[in-house]
Amino acid sequence: MADWRQALHLEPPQGWLNDPNGLCFFHGLYHVFFQYSPGSADGTSAKGWGHWQSPDLLHWTFTGEPLLPDTPWERNGAYSGCAVPCGEVLRLYYTGNVKHPGPYDYIHTGRESNTLLAETPDGIHVGPKQRLMASTDYPADCSLHVRDPKVWREGDRWYMLLGARSLQDAGRVLLYRSADGLAWELARVLEPAPAFGYMWECPDHFILDGRRWLSVSPQGLPHGETENQNQYQSGWFALNGDLETGTLSGFTEWDKGFDFYAPQTLQAPDGRIFLVGWMGMPDADYRNPTAALGWQHCLTLPREIEAGPDGLCQRPLRELDALAEGQPLALTAGQTLALPLPFRLRMTADRDFTLTLAGGLCLERDTEAGRLTLRFDDEALGGGRTLRRAVCGEGPLTVDLVADRASLEVYCNDGATVFSTRFYPADSTIPVAVQGADATVQPLRPMTFAIEE
Ligand code: FRU
Repeated sequence: MADWRQALHLEPPQGWLNDPNGLCFFHGLYHVFFQYSPGSADGTSAKGWGHWQSPDLLHWTFTGEPLLPDTPWERNGAYSGCAVPCGEVLRLYYTGNVKHPGPYDYIHTGRESNTLLAETPDGIHVGPKQRLMASTDYPADCSLHVRDPKVWREGDRWYMLLGARSLQDAGRVLLYRSADGLAWELARVLEPAPAFGYMWECPDHFILDGRRWLSVSPQGLPHGETENQNQYQSGWFALNGDLETGTLSGFTEWDKGFDFYAPQTLQAPDGRIFLVGWMGMPDADYRNPTAALGWQHCLTLPREIEAGPDGLCQRPLRELDALAEGQPLALTAGQTLALPLPFRLRMTADRDFTLTLAGGLCLERDTEAGRLTLRFDDEALGGGRTLRRAVCGEGPLTVDLVADRASLEVYCNDGATVFSTRFYPADSTIPVAVQGADATVQPLRPMTFAIEE
């Protein structure tokens, strides 16, 4: 029997989830908020923030929906944002979405995007809300699409990024500065020329290896054979120079697909930077059959971000090692094993290989073409997902794959290329076969997910 409830991934107890919000470590706990519509598995009711917390990223407790769209500033949704520890409380900065009824295009007319602040001592109880900025406060050459504040502190200064769409349909990020995190002034607008997509959502900033990095989710990039194959993208730029004057490097996608969007970072107490994305995609033409069962979507695993000579790499969080169950199993070339989900599979392939999961999901390397392909040969298994490609060089290629009951994250080439996808096997034990390389499989125990609403 299929069991599509995830064993290693955060998902809503019921209803709809999209972006991760407010990721932080505060008073001894990791907090993961998320865009949540408990009342509709298709995300059509107004969104608030749901909340999970954990001491160790392995044992999770869901505490309900602490942030509701309950003021006139957020009538149509408490949209995405962040959490910043400030003394004894967490400050939640987010976007209040308002859509006025009428014959509007909701890009230039009919919409309000309010930057709101609420405080919480624990991620569970949220105090009164303040409006810090309204649509009329943003630069005059912005459309009404301005949202998703990411706030952080450096010394005695506060910074905020907002994602935006200009009146000329160019994606951009607004950088604000503040002395107290309450009154904000515009420091600069980051917008490449020529325009790179028409809208940038969910900006994020982090410092790693002494450099500043900017993550954004651009919409409107042209689709290519191996680049930007998803409906919308998410990726990173290095910021060359300082925050208020530096220039952006080229853009690299975080993930080749099918399901990865709107990621946010979090700094762990030991200094590691984690990236967590929504394992979903807006406006995609494929499906998630769990919607018919009352819930839809999950977050990705937290990924550890490392800076290498060619940019950023991602690896599964090392906490997963604690979930190893029993000894690793050898899966030799030409063999098929029946494996209960979840598990982790690792291999290094010197040449062409094909890894086949559940009889219809193939990861394939074509060394001559310099291509790595993730392909569904089975419409039901992929819910309509088809094919994603990445460029890969010659020589040994590493694969580190985490298979959960209804998702797969594949970290290739030491995490330089990552594919994330949902899949819906008919059974929670699946056949796994490999040709062209030997692999090692580590069965995993589930994480624990308690619900205390
Ligand atoms: C990204 C996004 C954000 C917005 C949120 C609404 O997926 O569109 O820009 O704040 O989702 O749920």
